[in-house]
Amino acid sequence: MVTVQHLKRTEGYKAWLRYDRIQDQTWLSENKKWLSSITLLETSPIIESAKRELVGAFSGLNGQKPTVYTEHPKMPTVVLTTIDRLDKTFAFSLHDDGYIIQTKDYNGTSSIIIAGKTDKGVLYGSFHLLRFIQTRTNLNDLDQIENPKNRLRMMNQWDNMDGSIERGYAGSSIFYENNTITKEKERIKDYARLLSSIGINGISINNVNVHKVETKLITEKWLPEVAEMATIFRQYGIKTFLSINYASPIELGGLLTADPLDSEVRAWWKEKAVEIYRYIPDFGGVVVKADSEHRPGPFTYERNHADGANMLAEAFAPFQGIVIWRCFVYNCMQDWRDRKTDRAKAAYDHFKPLDGQFHKNVLLQIKNGPMDFQVREAVSPLFGAMSDTNQMLELQITQEYTGQQRHVCYLLPQWKEILEFETFAKGEGSPIKRIVAGSTFNNELSGITAVSNIGDDSNWTGHQLAQANLFGYGRLVWNPDLSVEEITNEWVRVTFGNDSEVIQKVTTILFESWPIYESYTSPLGVGWMVNPDHHYGPNVDGYEYSVWGTYHYADCYGIGVDRTVKTGTGYTEQYFKENRDLYESLDTCPDDLLLFFHHVPYTHKLQSGKSVIQHIYDTHFEGVEQAIHLKEQWVSLMTKIDSERYDNVLQRLEEQIEHAKEWRDIINTYFFRKSGIKDEKQRKIY
Ligand code: GCU
Repeated sequence: MVTVQHLKRTEGYKAWLRYDRIQDQTWLSENKKWLSSITLLETSPIIESAKRELVGAFSGLNGQKPTVYTEHPKMPTVVLTTIDRLDKTFAFSLHDDGYIIQTKDYNGTSSIIIAGKTDKGVLYGSFHLLRFIQTRTNLNDLDQIENPKNRLRMMNQWDNMDGSIERGYAGSSIFYENNTITKEKERIKDYARLLSSIGINGISINNVNVHKVETKLITEKWLPEVAEMATIFRQYGIKTFLSINYASPIELGGLLTADPLDSEVRAWWKEKAVEIYRYIPDFGGVVVKADSEHRPGPFTYERNHADGANMLAEAFAPFQGIVIWRCFVYNCMQDWRDRKTDRAKAAYDHFKPLDGQFHKNVLLQIKNGPMDFQVREAVSPLFGAMSDTNQMLELQITQEYTGQQRHVCYLLPQWKEILEFETFAKGEGSPIKRIVAGSTFNNELSGITAVSNIGDDSNWTGHQLAQANLFGYGRLVWNPDLSVEEITNEWVRVTFGNDSEVIQKVTTILFESWPIYESYTSPLGVGWMVNPDHHYGPNVDGYEYSVWGTYHYADCYGIGVDRTVKTGTGYTEQYFKENRDLYESLDTCPDDLLLFFHHVPYTHKLQSGKSVIQHIYDTHFEGVEQAIHLKEQWVSLMTKIDSERYDNVLQRLEEQIEHAKEWRDIINTYFFRKSGIKDEKQRKIY
């Protein structure tokens, strides 16, 4: 078995926390002095983590272990402290997780001050300083104030206790094996380091589908070990959450019901909360997938989601615990003859009428789109629709429908688009990023979460370039106003170094990757042309003929889902007027979402001037060419990237090209046969 000690020496494992010896003499001549000592004006387990990271990093970067002082040594040093200990010249307004990094006179000596509002800010600031160093920023005049825009910045693990990961594409779980919690905690600690380095402050450590064994995570059998994991995360400023089984009172408590209004059920959860907090005093709370894809929930008892969530909220409120209730609720067995039921409408229809009924410690977790993390889909109309309810955005870092970490698909541009989406909830100026930051409706709770993409593969994410999605997620959630360019530039530098050709080419590969993936897979926002079940690879009619009916309605005349009010399912009604009008009309609906909103003939002219069918052919042929070009760009970096990471990416790009051809041929042949319309450019269609 490969040990973590061995893994730590591999390139992929280090991810972006790599502290190789600095060779740049010019930078060193000006900045070396900052790497020789650290001064801790106070300490705590979290500040100790910051110290450990800095000591390890400076030792590597400088080839010499720094001295650690507890009083200012009166020579250049990096000072770690909470801000209140400093004098009035440091009166900055910081949020709980905020910090400053300044190069300033302290005690009569030039110092780099990392001061957090709390010790967590000190840790985040320390990681920030390391990013400055890795990107070779001049440290002699730092002046940075940082406050996270989102209070809750979470990660959802979809890990099962048998070691498998639902929709995991990077090996097995680092948390569990053989239905137990792993004894190998070092790797979990390294994951905590990675997460806190990008500002994550909450993690739910088991799959939202809570099966039999995982149901017991909230019992005394497992709580001591869950508490051990919580201790690891706590040292990195991260709160631990668990996904729970809504039917726990029946499965664990032996009750005959899980009815949220039943007094015994309510009492059972209250006692359960007391028990959990006895082991984990700062337990974050629970994540609940209820009445969704065959999971139990309040519907069984003819209660609604507010009844279910509030019952749990009452149990967790005395401990400041929160209930994160997922809105992924829809009829997953829709009959193909039923043209009125629309999966896209479901979340809004279930939750919007409950606005104002949820307790203050309930947070609704809403997927970015109304369907399911497709390569492109509309933004969920539920954002902004509930002015009196706490809302949180759920993204998917794991590439379930976007190439499963075998294809490169950089998701930051997609997420940025979602965050910037103007909902018009309170007129102009109500983008999703403000709603989920809690500022549009002054919510007490709000934030962003995402399904993680890591596993026990030596480089964490399977595809080396998929690390960019993890890093970028954290950075974007910390500050959604950052540009994708800034974040990408940072990631490439901290991961591959500061060579300008490497920066330029890797950045280009990343930026091109999502459009390329989109071009050879499902066209124009229609989605779902994947194999049901595992969701990898083309199968145009897979879902069209599965019991998990989710349809695109392609036939010999046309394709797409009519979601208009006028002739379709009426989904467009769920948006605020400006967006409703935009999507309702064929004249204004953007091309890239056309088939999400409209059913059109293959000859329909897009705004681009092309017909739908020609667009399908062109994008599928071009997508393969572009995938080949991705590889060419990567190959040109061979001498500049270590062979371990180079080979990993090369091998996956080769697989991607072959698979893109498969997509191209299957999609093109399918639509050629359906429509009978020839490709204008007479390329080969099987
Ligand atoms: C998708 C995914 C499931 C997952 C579900 C969810 O349907 O394929 O594996 O459980 O989303 O988010 O709950």
